[in-house]
Amino acid sequence: MSFPVDVVVMAAGKGTRMKSSRPKVLHRLGGRALAQHVIDTAARVSARSVVVITGHGADQVEAGLIAPALDSGAALKLQFVRQEPQLGTGHAVQQAVPVLADDGVTLVLSGDVPLTKPETLQALLDLCGGQRLALLTLEMPDPTGYGRIVRAADGSVTAIVEHKDASEAQRAITEIYSGIMAVPTKLLRGWLARLDNRNAQAEYYLTDVVKFAVADGLTVQAHRITDALQVAGVNSPVQLAELERAHQRRVADVLMVQGVRLADPARLDVRGELVCSQDVEIDVNCVFEGRVELGAGVRIGANCVIANAVIGDGAVIHPFTHIEGEKAGVSVGSGALIGPFARLRPGAKLGREVHIGNFVEVKNSTLADGAKANHLAYLGDAVVGERVNYGAGSITANYDGANKHRTVIEADVHVGSNCVLVAPVTIGAGGTVGGGSTITKDTLPGALSVARGRQVVIPNWSRPAKKKG
Ligand code: UD1
Ligand code: CA
Repeated sequence: MSFPVDVVVMAAGKGTRMKSSRPKVLHRLGGRALAQHVIDTAARVSARSVVVITGHGADQVEAGLIAPALDSGAALKLQFVRQEPQLGTGHAVQQAVPVLADDGVTLVLSGDVPLTKPETLQALLDLCGGQRLALLTLEMPDPTGYGRIVRAADGSVTAIVEHKDASEAQRAITEIYSGIMAVPTKLLRGWLARLDNRNAQAEYYLTDVVKFAVADGLTVQAHRITDALQVAGVNSPVQLAELERAHQRRVADVLMVQGVRLADPARLDVRGELVCSQDVEIDVNCVFEGRVELGAGVRIGANCVIANAVIGDGAVIHPFTHIEGEKAGVSVGSGALIGPFARLRPGAKLGREVHIGNFVEVKNSTLADGAKANHLAYLGDAVVGERVNYGAGSITANYDGANKHRTVIEADVHVGSNCVLVAPVTIGAGGTVGGGSTITKDTLPGALSVARGRQVVIPNWSRPAKKKG
């Protein structure tokens, strides 16, 4: 049983309760826009295309969503259709109908419902079978506000009645419509043409297609689930935070099943993709952004923020370290020790067993195997050789106010404390730079280079007296 699936994502609504200038469906969950989760899930049920209905903040929404890559490498077909004004969910889907092909099934999703599992949608599509209207429903202890699933004595679904239109008896029904349905497009097209807005809200209800299906003599299928999270929408900052934690818990569970040891799954935030090898340990309050890869045996200390980085086997990232690779990326070699309180910026490429200690910043620099900068230092636009020891308080003066220049520190160099290496400059292999030196010219390999002012002595000098009062 195979049929093309076209997904319609409703995302024209305003989301007033977010109290934000940002369109609701662009609020982020796990580092991705809410509606992006929905589109990405569509890709996982092999949708042929996705049509997003936009209205409020349409320009921003259209600019803020991307077509995910499919397993084939191609991008999923993503289209936008505008709904102006917003006259209800049925009216919303009417706008999409002209771009839907009759040979498929339309899967209706909401842009603000991010945590539906692909397997749930697949089960709904299977129930639809390319021929029937299938509804995703949920049993809810407090169904206030939702559309109720009305069933006949034999259990068959006869209608969805919106809360505002429901009788007392209907309001007692605890099975609700989730907002998700799968329906053969050809049938949908005909039913949408029959909608009217004679109801309590004067809206065109998508849910009225149920009564048309029944009137046409078709049975309506319901796939009833119990996991409310999968159909939960985001309407307020409180709900956004709740779903964020739920999403993070799912991510944490997947990692733990893979063997990752999390000190506390409730104190982990993955806002992108975290790929872990065997025996990774992550302490509390770490945030991972973009794509991060952790090699075998990597340990991440508490309170680290790591973005767009590849951490080699056995490396240890001590607490309070900030790694931000952005586009250029950061790579940390195997067995390296980073932090506590270290900062690695875009283009930091660290070799094996490199040590970067507290309050050391590295940007756009390569450090070869065994190089060390243990305290209070800056390396920018530098090429640092093997086993170099870079002293406390030393910096590369890489920027002359207009251009950035490179510093080359060859293998086995020792740079003392408080040195300024004024780029462009090369420190020759095996050389030593005396503490406190300002180096402006290339140094000879193996040499001791010292460049600092002479000590000035003013005898019998007394400090200015402190003012009283
Ligand atoms: C809808 C269902 C209700 C169901 C509930 C589940 C209808 C008539 N009712 O109710 O049975 O229990 O969802 O959450 O469908 N939207 C548009 N354009 C519009 C109106 C809405 O794009 O003109 C979008 C919204 O942005 C949202 C989705 O459609 O993403 C659902 O709209 P919403 O107003 O939340 O529907 P409900 O009235 O809650
Ligand atoms: Ca709603």
